[in-house]
Amino acid sequence: MNHTSMAYPKRATIFEMGPRDGLQNEKTLIKIEDKIELVAGLAEAGLVKIETGSFVSPKWVPQMADSGEIFKRIERKSGVHYTALTPNMKGFEAALAAKVSEVAIFGAASESFTQKNINCSIAESIERFQPIMDAAKAHNIPVRGYVSCVVGCPYEGDIAPEKVAEVSQILFEMGCYEISLGDTIGVGTPVKIQQMLDAVIAKVPVEKLAVHFHDTYGQALPNILVALQNGISVIDSSVAGLGGCPYAKGASGNVSTEDVVYMLHGMGIETGIDLDKLVQVSAKIMGALQRQPQSKVSLAYLAKSQTTA
Ligand code: HMG
Ligand code: MG
Repeated sequence: MNHTSMAYPKRATIFEMGPRDGLQNEKTLIKIEDKIELVAGLAEAGLVKIETGSFVSPKWVPQMADSGEIFKRIERKSGVHYTALTPNMKGFEAALAAKVSEVAIFGAASESFTQKNINCSIAESIERFQPIMDAAKAHNIPVRGYVSCVVGCPYEGDIAPEKVAEVSQILFEMGCYEISLGDTIGVGTPVKIQQMLDAVIAKVPVEKLAVHFHDTYGQALPNILVALQNGISVIDSSVAGLGGCPYAKGASGNVSTEDVVYMLHGMGIETGIDLDKLVQVSAKIMGALQRQPQSKVSLAYLAKSQTTA
């Protein structure tokens, strides 16, 4: 392909994962006020899709146990979608009571990961999701579908692109408005991502796809570039690069929102996000967690502001 003829989307949507994927793996319980402030800061920085919580079993993921309370206490900014994960009807009913903007079901292209993450087989997960789809339709709530392990699985190793395409197609045909393709353990590299996308795009329209890359091996940005080249314009990321999945040992957080925004703006792709404000939000939550951001862009911005102060 001639690079001068490469077409990128003019605008991209960032789906912010920080309050959910970012925080779900934190061992020490974080104060609810810090979580609420994080959500507010993200909305203020221009994020319009914020995964705010997760209605899963508190025994499985204790950090998300206060999601209902968070939804009760956040101030909702007009135009911002505050979303949550719902693995089953119990989760969906809690999400409904919490007045979420949209929910997400989460499956995987790996049998063993599905078993470890949601305690059932892929086929059983689809059966569990059906009543959520029906109830969501009845209540007019959009449902997003995640497919985890789109390149590799922490238990099974390489995952066949055809399997990813098969699960993506099932979730899409069940009525998910968008399929987010998760490289849960961040093992993808650009050619593997392209092969996986080729298989998925043959089954699901490209404009219905999002990418969700963890940055364990530092490959997320080049992989996002591949996704953009394919016409995908929804990107999941996590402020400060927070996070990881509790059922994917050793996997680090999502690619950081600051790094993605910096790359997109540098390419002339609009996001509606104020990067200076976002860096402040990142610094604040990392201050609460007493760690440095994982984001290189944040670290560079913070270093620059210290030398010019
Ligand atoms: P289970 O044990 O098979 O469920 O877990 P169960 O229906 O037998 O219920 C067992 C207990 O859990 C009962 O309580 C239920 O009431 C309770 P008990 O009677 O023992 O006191 N329970 C619930 N409580 C609150 N909310 C609920 C709920 N459901 C049952 N919704 C279950 C099945 C799915 C619940 C469990 O496996 C679970 O919660 N898993 C969640 C795992 C998780 O959150 N993983 C991280 C998110 S996925 C991810 O990070 C990947 C992603 O980012 C994409 C990527 O990176 O690839 C999305
Ligand atoms: Mg994830």
